[in-house]
Amino acid sequence: MSNVTVIGTQWGDEGKGKIVDWLASRADIVVRFQGGHNAGHTLVVGDQVYKLSLLPSGLVRGKIGVIGNGVVVDPKALMTEIDRVTGQGLVVTPETLWIAENAPLILPVHGALDRAREAARGEHKIGTTGRGIGPAYEDKVARRAIRICDLAEPETLDWKLDELLLHHNTLLAGLGAETFTKEQLKDFLTEITPRLLPFSCQVWDRLDEARRAGRRILFEGAQAVMLDVDHGTYPYVTSSNTVAAVAASGSGVSPSSVGFVLGIAKAYTTRVGEGPFPTELHDQTGRTLGERGHEFGTVTGRPRRCGWFDAVLIRRAVRVGGVSGIALTKLDVLDGLDEIFICIGYELDGQKIETFPSAPGAQSRVKPVYETMPGWKETTAGARSWAELPAQAIKYVRRIEELIEAPVTLLSTSPERDDTILMRDPFED
Ligand code: GDP
Ligand code: IMO
Ligand code: MG
Repeated sequence: MSNVTVIGTQWGDEGKGKIVDWLASRADIVVRFQGGHNAGHTLVVGDQVYKLSLLPSGLVRGKIGVIGNGVVVDPKALMTEIDRVTGQGLVVTPETLWIAENAPLILPVHGALDRAREAARGEHKIGTTGRGIGPAYEDKVARRAIRICDLAEPETLDWKLDELLLHHNTLLAGLGAETFTKEQLKDFLTEITPRLLPFSCQVWDRLDEARRAGRRILFEGAQAVMLDVDHGTYPYVTSSNTVAAVAASGSGVSPSSVGFVLGIAKAYTTRVGEGPFPTELHDQTGRTLGERGHEFGTVTGRPRRCGWFDAVLIRRAVRVGGVSGIALTKLDVLDGLDEIFICIGYELDGQKIETFPSAPGAQSRVKPVYETMPGWKETTAGARSWAELPAQAIKYVRRIEELIEAPVTLLSTSPERDDTILMRDPFED
């Protein structure tokens, strides 16, 4: 019996939320360890649709949800989300939601700076979600973040706010954006403190206790390896590490607790925001994938860019992310296509290359080398067993396994919770 860590292997939106929700029935505790409310995880359970950004997906199963210290927490966004899901019948109390008291807060200055900088970047903009994620992580590393535990110490808060505003107002003024007063931030914090503090605790200690009691932990990653601040398509990435190793540091558990690393991959590829995307399709097939897959950002509503499966990038995500097995999602979106393309290599300036380059100029010039496979006419949508899949769809999955050098241990065939095929239970590994 082991813990399981779920991470995205592409550019996000692979269906992590659906898979975490499905796996959560086998877990006791579900932990978010990085990212913030830039994440958007959609769970479909019967006629209910849950859209979660900060809350761990396990809460929908009535499991304990944990927000680890590696997450940046926008307290207003969190309370709005709690109110929304409570309206849908979920129970979110300090008994069911534990938030690390050493997690940094996202304040209104962060969103303002994120948006002002994006506007100033012009054609080189990153296409962020505009939610202050980058500036909040910058403040954490620069040692000027306000952390949840600071809310209980008015004297600490006072000098930290001065330091924070000195930095941010200088930048905001330089960018021609509106600055903030200390009173504005104090009012913001005074309003949220009584609701937020009761959820906060020493998460590392409770997780350690849970481990000793033999409870199963499911770590829920946000974003994906290609958006990782070190291993992704920098600078068109998010501001946190998204690989499985961070599940440990982002929640305060031992590296050995990470367990089975389940990488989530779509049967094709999508990306929201700017940045290189070698297999992107600008034609009708790309639009068809987008329409069938309902590819619109959960957070910003932006249409997602769509393209073919890139086996080279996923093989890299498997190696860098320490992926033990893959959950392949949205296979049903490929139903009825005559031909399916898989990227098996690249060309850069007329030369064949083995791996994806690191510099942004080269990354944007990379051309995919494709292998084609016949599609299938039958439907896979809603399939719940391997036996229900058409032979050609099985061949596609098998070929992907060979190319990415990792087994497909789960398959997803619709947004609905139970339309899932389990080949190997990651908790039993
Ligand atoms: P996440 O950010 O990785 O959790 O993914 P999102 O929830 O942002 O985006 C995935 C979308 O695909 C959601 O709308 C899911 O309901 C949907 N989805 C997940 N798995 C499948 C699947 O196997 N087939 C189809 N058609 N949709 C899926
Ligand atoms: P989930 O967890 C897809 C993208 C943004 C932008 C870049 C940086 O739902 O898979 P940020 O606001 O993080 O500074 O934006 O990262 N991005 C995501 N794309 N899914 C996500 O999360 C994302 N979170 C951030 O679109 O390109
Ligand atoms: Mg998403």
